[in-house]
Amino acid sequence: MIATLQQTTPLKIGSVKVNSRVLQSPLSGVTDMVFRRLVRRYAPDSMLYTEMVKAKEIHHLRELPQVMNIAPDESPISIQLFDSRPDFMGEAAQKAVAEGAQTIDINMGCPVNKITKKGGGSSLLRQPEVAEAIVASVVEAVEVPVSVKTRIGWDETDINILEFAQRLENAGAQMLTLHGRTRSQGYQGNAQWHWIKQVKQILSIPVIANGDIFSVEDAVQCLEETNADGVMCSRGTLGYPFLAGEIDHFLKTGEKRPQPTPGERLTCAKQHLQGLWEYRGDRGIYQSRKHLAWYAKGFPGAAQLRDNLSQIQGLEEGLMLLDEAISQQ
Ligand SMILES: Cc1cc2nc3c(=O)[nH]c(=O)nc-3n(C[C@H](O)[C@H](O)[C@H](O)COP(=O)(O)O)c2cc1C
Repeated sequence: MIATLQQTTPLKIGSVKVNSRVLQSPLSGVTDMVFRRLVRRYAPDSMLYTEMVKAKEIHHLRELPQVMNIAPDESPISIQLFDSRPDFMGEAAQKAVAEGAQTIDINMGCPVNKITKKGGGSSLLRQPEVAEAIVASVVEAVEVPVSVKTRIGWDETDINILEFAQRLENAGAQMLTLHGRTRSQGYQGNAQWHWIKQVKQILSIPVIANGDIFSVEDAVQCLEETNADGVMCSRGTLGYPFLAGEIDHFLKTGEKRPQPTPGERLTCAKQHLQGLWEYRGDRGIYQSRKHLAWYAKGFPGAAQLRDNLSQIQGLEEGLMLLDEAISQQ
């Protein structure tokens, strides 16, 4: 209950006040405008994030990449950037603010080889001076608050988050989101929330707990164990854009919102498919396959439906499969 009381006050990210302590994480290939619109419907106050955007790419492209598109009604929203070059990051941050981002988030957690090899994402955990320079450069470049999302360390033998987090705060970061895994854990094993608790004890800026938040119960337990200022939902939202809203509702009211029925989830899947088609045409259809398969869970015949949905060629086919499944619920 301590956690519940704490959650009724706004989250302050520097000058930005957010009326929810439940955040929807950046998810590459997932949190585009269409997905975010669904999350927003259920979580009207939560901070949303774009997929991560490569700062260097922004420098070279004439037009901004579609991944930076945000709509005027998406507030509060942050654009997440990654790169290892402080100057590119500062420049990209200015463009992100011009697009309407209320905060800039810096990715220092991505474990993907392609990115860490070039010094970005979680490899910054091993180059704390560069990480600090990036934060300082972005803070200098923009007026909006700057946050960082990172992991607890490179591997089990090199968990350096306490020192690293302190450096980020000293460099001017206004919020830290901590995924309680090392880089070498990837997404395996448990998130080590006890590190989040320790980081929370030493920082003055808000600390957001991330990793293994799949339900209202997980969120409450995590907040109680870590004393974090909020939680960020990630894989728990794949095919389930209801999660941030469910947690937020519980933290604010102490009441559990009824979970959507399979029919309601499939109806949401239809809206997701329709939205992706309108937003990206055929590419949206290909992208929708994984989403639709994530929605089709927890009812008789779900496995077959997943199979069929993951091969759809067009909008009509997807809508027909979903309508048929809805009528059987
Ligand atoms: C498909 C996928 C894409 C992701 N993309 C991003 C990203 O663009 N930026 C980021 O900071 N983290 C990204 N992450 C990491 C998540 O935001 C989160 O930190 C991680 O999944 C841990 O939380 P969880 O255990 O609740 O899933 C991604 C994770 C997944 C599974």
